[in-house]
Amino acid sequence: MRVKAPRTLVMFPKDHEIVVYNYLTRDAITCAPADIYWLTIAPEWTPVEELLARHPHIEPQSLRQEIIRLVEAGILLQEDSASARTEAIYQQSWELGIAAAVFHFSLLDNDYGDHSESVKKQKQRALGDPSPDLLWKNLNGSTPLPGQPRPAASQLFDIMRRRRTIRNVRPEALTLEDLGECLFAGLGVTSFVRTETGVLPLKMTPSGGARNPFEAFVWARNVDGLTPGLYHYSALQHSLEKTAAPPAASPMELVKGQEWANAMPAIIFLVAVLGRTTWKYSDPNAYRVVLIEAGHIAQNIMLACASSNLTACPTAALSHAQISAMLALKDITETPVYALLVGKPGENLDTLISPDKAPRLA
Ligand SMILES: Cc1cc2nc3c(=O)[nH]c(=O)nc-3n(C[C@H](O)[C@H](O)[C@H](O)COP(=O)(O)O)c2cc1C
Repeated sequence: MRVKAPRTLVMFPKDHEIVVYNYLTRDAITCAPADIYWLTIAPEWTPVEELLARHPHIEPQSLRQEIIRLVEAGILLQEDSASARTEAIYQQSWELGIAAAVFHFSLLDNDYGDHSESVKKQKQRALGDPSPDLLWKNLNGSTPLPGQPRPAASQLFDIMRRRRTIRNVRPEALTLEDLGECLFAGLGVTSFVRTETGVLPLKMTPSGGARNPFEAFVWARNVDGLTPGLYHYSALQHSLEKTAAPPAASPMELVKGQEWANAMPAIIFLVAVLGRTTWKYSDPNAYRVVLIEAGHIAQNIMLACASSNLTACPTAALSHAQISAMLALKDITETPVYALLVGKPGENLDTLISPDKAPRLA
């Protein structure tokens, strides 16, 4: 057996020990500072026998056991294992550096707990630590602004005002027009620009370097004119291509157990193709740029939905591995970031209060 230390370890002190964290696999162990030595013994694939021979002063059996312990803890890699293959892919394809990698891989597939747990936690926290102000006030004299948009802008403002996350939907099909419009609003190509480095697509949403890293996939569950299944949206062709039958998983499973998802007739998954952006930018801020763009795209989709009296509910609580497998994403740099669940809104169950009646916030 050959072993090697992964290049995806970060370490930090905790009490009098060191936490060694493999951000790619999210394995962590706590060890004594002296044990860090064992992470330096095999920077490249090295036979265990050779490691034993290099440490004649240590009893071979106990050293072998220590190496196996580190392999089992995910802190040493075993050649030809699944973790070793993932690490090799990471080495080849991740261009955004360690800081973005720690963030990216650590947030995949996290659990968030259910709504009632979250409410309970917030209430508990509020007892000793009230929420920060959600709106800041100007306290030192300010210039009042005219409140209403000018008439030419009012249609846009009406739509923006109508946008709401309404998780309660009617059991009705979407039309193909509805779906087409919201995909076009988020990702459709409106023109191209010739630059020194090539021709770049332009859309209704801005994109860092016009690299346009997002692709959209749709799980059409109840859309007139589409057989239920998974589709890829081509922004270039403004068309949907069926890529797979409906997944075995329920919508709720794909969005971390949020039950309301099961009633939605269509789910749009926004998938970042990080390589498009990192081809030009390879600093960690490029990762932030990509996430910001998901917000732009989603907002346009939500506004297009609002203008057609639909709701598009955003969620970043995703079962990343399951979605990636379902969409047959080929590389760890093709990653689901955001989902919009589209439907015809039923009653809005949120308790809405007009601004003038919300004294604590206004
Ligand atoms: C990045 C992001 C992630 C969100 N994730 C969830 C989610 O996982 N589940 C959910 O029910 N709502 C989610 N929402 C919706 C918010 O709860 C919602 O926008 C907020 O309550 C305000 O309501 P509004 O959208 O009607 O203005 C998310 C919103 C954003 C912007």
